[in-house]
Amino acid sequence: ALRQSFALKAQKQNQNFQYQLQPQASYKVTVLGAAGGIGQPLALLVKMSPLVSALHLYDIANVKGVAADLSHCNTPSQVLDFTGASELANSLKGANVVVIPAGVPRKPGMTRDDLFNINANIVKTLVEAVADNCPDAFIHIISNPVNSTVPIAAEVLKQKGVYDPKKLFGVTTLDVVRANTFVAQKKNVKLIDVDVPVVGGHAGITILPLLSKTKPSVSFTDEEVEQLTVRIQNAGTEVVEAKAGAGSATLSMAYAAARFVESSLRALDGDGDVYECAFVQSDLPDLPFFASRVKLGKQGVEALISSDLQGLTEYEQKALEALKPELKASIEKGISFIHKQP
Ligand code: NAI
Repeated sequence: ALRQSFALKAQKQNQNFQYQLQPQASYKVTVLGAAGGIGQPLALLVKMSPLVSALHLYDIANVKGVAADLSHCNTPSQVLDFTGASELANSLKGANVVVIPAGVPRKPGMTRDDLFNINANIVKTLVEAVADNCPDAFIHIISNPVNSTVPIAAEVLKQKGVYDPKKLFGVTTLDVVRANTFVAQKKNVKLIDVDVPVVGGHAGITILPLLSKTKPSVSFTDEEVEQLTVRIQNAGTEVVEAKAGAGSATLSMAYAAARFVESSLRALDGDGDVYECAFVQSDLPDLPFFASRVKLGKQGVEALISSDLQGLTEYEQKALEALKPELKASIEKGISFIHKQP
């Protein structure tokens, strides 16, 4: 009887996690940079997804232990580890979604652009391998400066003849997550309902929260708009300073990246109602990439929600004009990095 009661208890405990225990689909997700500050909690959150059957963790070091540890969670996906350049190709074969948080993070006083020299090369090398081994995968770029690393990735994919603009994403979900949190706090609205589109890019003033488009509709004073906008733009720096040299956002970033992975998998799985903001190829004059709200489908970006840029407030319109030169320069820096290669 005792054994039965334990069995029932275990069943109940497992039922609380049933959404994780019952496989609902079988997609393969590869994380490149999986042993890092973002990589580890991201891998944990992806391990909890019922849509994932294989989770491949790649890093240049320390990934074996992470994979052994995660593999003990009784959720559907099989976890495999891949260490070093010689195992990169195998980590990618058959992947449906590749997430790239590889690279160095900021320390206090640094801008995201200060990371360019190191991270540009890392992203180039990793995306070359993606092009060679899983050219159809959705590619999620987290490595900063996103405003430049995404154009770098696009150029690499073009050179390899496999560029599909609908499947290349700079991950800006954290900007939306932060905007939603700060707006809910400030306006005392239910967190679960709040949705603020954030457009532009992913650095300083290029991050443009469209507070006037917040759902449910909320009204803000001019001071509130100014305060919230500046806080959302500087939220990454808030974390960098609080960590005082130990890196940048990792946990909230992993949460945001996992949300973007889950949204991508739902879209791949045929859910017709998936919308996220991401830094993607745009049709705006002079800005080949721009973070926008997009509808995701089986083939990646199904539609850009360009109506978000109509009917902006004067404040938003000015901020949009002000961000364009910086964003354009960061995009061009990424593109010319590839074309200057010997
Ligand atoms: P971290 O230093 O803790 O981890 C980076 C990992 O990348 C390490 O495990 C390292 O071994 C690995 N790595 C380095 N070179 C590699 C290579 N060639 N191939 C594979 N793996 C390699 O850094 P953290 O905190 O995880 O941040 C990673 C990146 O994410 C940084 O560039 C950071 O700026 C960016 N980031 C982006 C955000 C966004 O919203 N898009 C938010 C926060 C950080």
